Amino acid sequence: MTQTPFIITLDGPAGVGKTTLARCLAQRLGLAYLDTGAMFRCLALKLGSGAEKLPEAELRLQCARWIFRLNGSGEKTVLTCNDIPVGNEIRTEEVAMLASRIATVPLIRDMLREAQQSMGRCSSLVTEGRDMGTVVFPEARCKFFLDASPEVRALRRQRDLEKRGEKADLATLAALIRQRDHQDRNRAIAPLRPADDAHLVDTSSLEIEEVLAHLLEHVRHCGGPLPR
Ligand code: C5P
Repeated sequence: MTQTPFIITLDGPAGVGKTTLARCLAQRLGLAYLDTGAMFRCLALKLGSGAEKLPEAELRLQCARWIFRLNGSGEKTVLTCNDIPVGNEIRTEEVAMLASRIATVPLIRDMLREAQQSMGRCSSLVTEGRDMGTVVFPEARCKFFLDASPEVRALRRQRDLEKRGEKADLATLAALIRQRDHQDRNRAIAPLRPADDAHLVDTSSLEIEEVLAHLLEHVRHCGGPLPR
């Protein structure tokens, strides 16, 4: 008997720790991990600046050239674009801003939503983004919405960048985060907001391990898989 995939959604604003948490959660639960922000970032990089202004027919052709797939599970999950793993080249603030711009285009959201839903039909997932619980997987059995103050999020971003040997000014990071939040919360389609049935978690004063323990407990409560 085949079981219906168990979908766990994590939504929230930039820099809240979704990527780290989703990856850890997927590893503990032995599920595949889908970073939908990485799909928007990768597509933004492939299409280049100004893509959101292309005529629809042209944009459709351009987008159709890029096929996303998900392989493996836990920390070994790999997201590929045209069979090449999506790498760290997408992890810059410039690419994030480009992603946020193309994320306002209905055609792009539709195409990526279809790809995401088809991944969720094949396997159980921990998936993170902005509209996972509201639009892409409204039937998901376990939904989270993570939040933290913009100051805390900017500080976390700065630490991530420093770990990769990059320097960034805190005030500049906070301004970029506020601008991206504004764009993501106020766009006409699939704006960032918690699903009505999402479990809200403010991570401002919590360490990653504390949030993770809380998420695992809630997954158990929702009837999800038990940690390994
Ligand atoms: O999560 P991440 O910061 O990598 O996302 C980059 C951008 O992609 C976001 O600022 C947002 O505009 C867009 N995005 C989205 N919907 C998603 C995931 C990301 O609109 N599900």
